[in-house]
Amino acid sequence: MVATRRILVIALSACAALMLAAPLAADPIDDFVRRHFDHPVAGDVSGWIEPAGRLTPDGCGVCHVQQRADWAGSRHARAVGPGLLAQIGPEGDGGACTRCHAPLAEQQRGTPHYRPELEQHGLYCAGCHVRNGTMWGPRPRRATAQQAAQSTHNGFRVSVAFSDSRFCGACHQFAEDGFRLNGKLLEDTVNEWRASPAGKAGKPCQSCHMPDRRHLWRGIHDPEMTAGALQTALERTGPRSALYRVTATNVGHRLPTYVTPRLTVRLVALDPSGQPVTSTTYAIQRRVDVWLQQELYDTRLKPGETATVSLTWRDADAVTAVVGSVLVEPDEYYERFFSAYTAESRAQRTQAAAALAEYRKSAYTVHRRWLKY
Ligand code: HEC
Ligand code: HEC
Ligand code: HEC
Ligand code: HEC
Ligand code: HEC
Repeated sequence: MVATRRILVIALSACAALMLAAPLAADPIDDFVRRHFDHPVAGDVSGWIEPAGRLTPDGCGVCHVQQRADWAGSRHARAVGPGLLAQIGPEGDGGACTRCHAPLAEQQRGTPHYRPELEQHGLYCAGCHVRNGTMWGPRPRRATAQQAAQSTHNGFRVSVAFSDSRFCGACHQFAEDGFRLNGKLLEDTVNEWRASPAGKAGKPCQSCHMPDRRHLWRGIHDPEMTAGALQTALERTGPRSALYRVTATNVGHRLPTYVTPRLTVRLVALDPSGQPVTSTTYAIQRRVDVWLQQELYDTRLKPGETATVSLTWRDADAVTAVVGSVLVEPDEYYERFFSAYTAESRAQRTQAAAALAEYRKSAYTVHRRWLKY
């Protein structure tokens, strides 16, 4: 309960900050993004015909098969999961959480627009593309696209904002006066991106997370995506020592960007029977306490940065192999949070238990390397 209130306050302050942050010198993209995500956003497609008029992902998927399939495997499709539901009651949250997790007016509990069948889809097609009966999309690939879409959703309006990092920033970046710990915004992904080689080269979030406009949004929960962001090297530095290097390479912000995941670099020396003789670990994380009162340390890697762990042992004969690896726990913070959290109702407690079970299953290991001694 304390948790709910505390987290709500944080989200609300972020929300308020976003509204206050209306830029004085109006940039057309900043302006578009602010209007587009001004909560709650009404889909309201009463004038449309089937199947687009259903406003469901399946309705869109009748024609946009690829986007429907890609999106279904993404975290955006799971943005209303047990972890969120454990924290918001039947009366709704006034948008504190749902403005990012389920932004449509039709998804808001306790309002006259509420359509329960839409809430479960989390952040889906209409939450990014439909506003007050108008379809919005990026610059089309084909000159005939407008005409082709005329009979279903009255064509569509174009905004170049869809291909810009600031579109993602509506939910992945706090405003300058948003919630901070140790002087740093809790969510600062767009700023980190601006400072990164990808940002400087003008490669937006979409170039890595939506390659060729695919609706994949793979991130830290995807072992292949994370493995692809790292380069590792395991080195023999002597008969009784080893070194393991982990470098962040193909990433457009800090690795990881949020306070919630933890990567643990491990180096273990094994005896002939495969038992550990000695070992060492190093955590890559922006570690915060469970109630978000303080930052304990921040060892996240900037793109290009390397974390190094070394291991020494006394008896050269005792060790026959050394193993380096990186353990990834995408939901490490949420595991701690839901272990400490007491939900108000029985239904919410059931959701909290389901969330905890999910987070505990999300860990995986990448870049396991062996060296014989
Ligand atoms: C500014 C946008 C934003 C707001 C507001 C927001 N979230 Fe989130 N939330 C995110 C993003 C982005 C992630 C994914 C990154 C991460 O794991 O931290 C996330 C992840 C989560 C997760 C873990 C993933 C899951 O679905 O289980 C939970 C739980 C969660 N949020 C709950 C909440 C609650 C409760 C609130 C309101 C008190 C809230 N969020 C407000 C953007 C937001
Ligand atoms: C998180 C926001 C978001 C969600 C959710 C979302 N989209 Fe998109 N969509 C985008 C963005 C951003 C682009 C443009 C990407 C770019 O320009 O690189 C896009 C592009 C498109 C395009 C043009 C594709 C092309 O190849 O030219 C279509 C069609 C589309 N989306 C349909 C859908 C459908 C259908 C769904 C649901 C299954 C959906 N979108 C869900 C953000 C979203
Ligand atoms: C009956 C088929 C049909 C349905 C249903 C449908 N669309 Fe479309 N949509 C089209 C066609 C055709 C185009 C034109 C695109 C093209 O020709 O490449 C289009 C274009 C779009 C675009 C613009 C793409 C761009 O290049 O900017 C977006 C975004 C989009 N649709 C999203 C949706 C969403 C979201 C839904 C569900 C609410 C939906 N559509 C339902 C057929 C459909
Ligand atoms: C309306 C708010 C919103 C917008 C706009 C948005 N996202 Fe998200 N995004 C979320 C939320 C909420 C989550 C967490 C969902 C969950 O796990 O509960 C998320 C999750 C993600 C993840 C998965 C992270 C992981 O833990 O693996 C990636 C990657 C991502 N978003 C990238 C993007 C990109 C790129 C864009 C812009 C094209 C974008 N998002 C636009 C709200 C948003
Ligand atoms: C050069 C490629 C690249 C670019 C550009 C990029 N990302 Fe990522 N992103 C990754 C990789 C790889 C991961 C997985 C490793 C990690 O979590 O850092 C990731 C992870 C994430 C996650 C998972 C959560 C976490 O804590 O790491 C989110 C959310 C995300 N990106 C959002 C964004 C947004 C928003 C932008 C644009 C402002 C962006 N990314 C730009 C490559 C990129």
